[in-house]
Amino acid sequence: MASVLITGGHSGIGLECSRSLAAQGYNVVLAGRSLARMESVADELRTAHGVHVGMVEIDTSSLASVRSAAAHCRSMVEDGEIDSLVAVICNAGGRFDGPERYSPEGYELTFATNCLGHFLLVELLCPVVAADGRFVFTASGTHDPDTMDGKLVGAAVEPNAVALANDGKDGAKALSAGKRYSTSKLCDVLYAYELARRLDRAGSSITAIAFDPGAIPDTGFLRDMPKAVQWIAKSRPMGWLEKRIGVTTSTAEFSGAALAEVAVDPKHSSGSYLQAKEGRLSKRRSSTVSYDEGRAAALWNDSKQLAGLRSDEEPAELR
Ligand SMILES: NC(=O)c1ccc[n+]([C@@H]2O[C@H](COP(=O)([O-])OP(=O)(O)OC[C@H]3O[C@@H](n4cnc5c(N)ncnc54)[C@H](OP(=O)(O)O)[C@@H]3O)[C@@H](O)[C@H]2O)c1
Repeated sequence: MASVLITGGHSGIGLECSRSLAAQGYNVVLAGRSLARMESVADELRTAHGVHVGMVEIDTSSLASVRSAAAHCRSMVEDGEIDSLVAVICNAGGRFDGPERYSPEGYELTFATNCLGHFLLVELLCPVVAADGRFVFTASGTHDPDTMDGKLVGAAVEPNAVALANDGKDGAKALSAGKRYSTSKLCDVLYAYELARRLDRAGSSITAIAFDPGAIPDTGFLRDMPKAVQWIAKSRPMGWLEKRIGVTTSTAEFSGAALAEVAVDPKHSSGSYLQAKEGRLSKRRSSTVSYDEGRAAALWNDSKQLAGLRSDEEPAELR
């Protein structure tokens, strides 16, 4: 049976996605920072569904770690341990509150974790994706400043990769954690659309999709927030209020299963933006800026430079 790689597939939305994929008989490759945290999920999936579950260590904020994870995954395919990948789900990520933090290569942590590491992973794994395979980016409604999701978190700023990677350096005023997060998710939508265009232009039948899981307070997403804020966010009155004011709300179970569907169901077309909201998965329009092809191409080309992508690493269809 076909295999799907998912980053952050051992917790939150990703865990529910892994469960849904395994229940449908897909082999799963869990990609995450801790083999110990992934091992118990791997055991659960193998026992419950009899599928093959591989594990790859990856820290998406570290370009060196992404390179080594991609090499490991490619060798799993080349050695016949797993089939070529029918989907790569770029799902790991988070919002990092508190003082600015930087990746091992010196890039701002939100951009490095949510964007650049996954960009490099996509480039390096493209050769082992099945001919009709799919890349999915877990984005967020917060990327769109015209929605309540975007307004509450902080409006996304210009998706300039070099500026975002160097945010807050040399004494410059840094973006708020909310704006860093919403902008990183705008970059994920732009990556998905640019990837879809590049693959299409090259005549490839590999597809690329952006997915908004909706606001889900009971994953690990709010872990950097003070305990009182986490408690309020998870309370029933807050859930009620969010719905009233138009926030896109969902549950980990529904959005995880929806993410699995987005990854493997051929009815979803390349270059689309799908959103999970209150038990429904539907195709939506993303923010106005996300359709700007010039910004997307600039983000892609700057990301290549920042990631140090060598020309011999770059698949022909993504040039
Ligand atoms: N929950 C929401 O309201 C919401 C809304 C919109 C979008 N999203 C997006 O949905 C995705 C999943 O989030 P979630 O809500 O399920 O939260 P979660 O439970 O915290 O899951 C996040 C996952 O990302 C992994 N991760 C974080 N940093 C990483 C790194 N540097 N390298 C590798 N893995 C890393 C975490 O692994 P560890 O166990 O190692 O920490 C964890 O498995 C994220 O992209 C998030 O931005 C969430």
